[in-house]
Amino acid sequence: MTTTRGSRSRNGVARGAVAVYPGSFDPVTFGHLDIVRRAAHYFTRLIVAVVTNPNKRPMFAQDQRVALLRDVCADIPNVEVDGFSGLLVDYVRKRQADLIVKGLRIVSDFEYEFSMAVLNRKQRGGVDTMFVPASIEFAYVSSSSVKEVFRLGGDVSDFVPPVVLRAMQRLRIADVKTEPRRKEVERS
Ligand code: PNS
Repeated sequence: MTTTRGSRSRNGVARGAVAVYPGSFDPVTFGHLDIVRRAAHYFTRLIVAVVTNPNKRPMFAQDQRVALLRDVCADIPNVEVDGFSGLLVDYVRKRQADLIVKGLRIVSDFEYEFSMAVLNRKQRGGVDTMFVPASIEFAYVSSSSVKEVFRLGGDVSDFVPPVVLRAMQRLRIADVKTEPRRKEVERS
């Protein structure tokens, strides 16, 4: 089978579509990377799109999250990392992509992801979502649990790439350094 944009991948699956894999990636975990690698195999191009969410206070600024993702995806030639804000469907259209890719881990992900997929199909012409099931070893890995374990002094080296771990450690050192100043401000 061939498509308008491409031909067959190594295993004979039709390629040609461009997909957007959106998320906060705060920070990117081995679970995210597993989805990126597996999804990238089936598309001509996979755009990993890092959201700016004004309602969240992320650990890493959007440009830092983009830089970390670029670093850890550097060996996957058909992956592009970009930042976006606003409606996901508008971004997908702007990038002339065909569909959204999301990872699904445990059953509790399903309800939220399903409602987002329905909403995204209803927005301005609609974009479909393809779900990639997480590999079993990453089924319980989430950015929020990684952040919590790290903040409490635990070891997250099994869950995030070394470059991400180093960035988290640098943030912690920066936090410790600014702590007395913060206290001085509080007292004044
Ligand atoms: O990694 P996350 O935080 O679960 O990703 C959530 C994300 C970025 C996919 C979602 O918040 C999103 O799509 N944001 C863009 C704004 C938007 O389009 N919202 C409506 C989606 S139904």
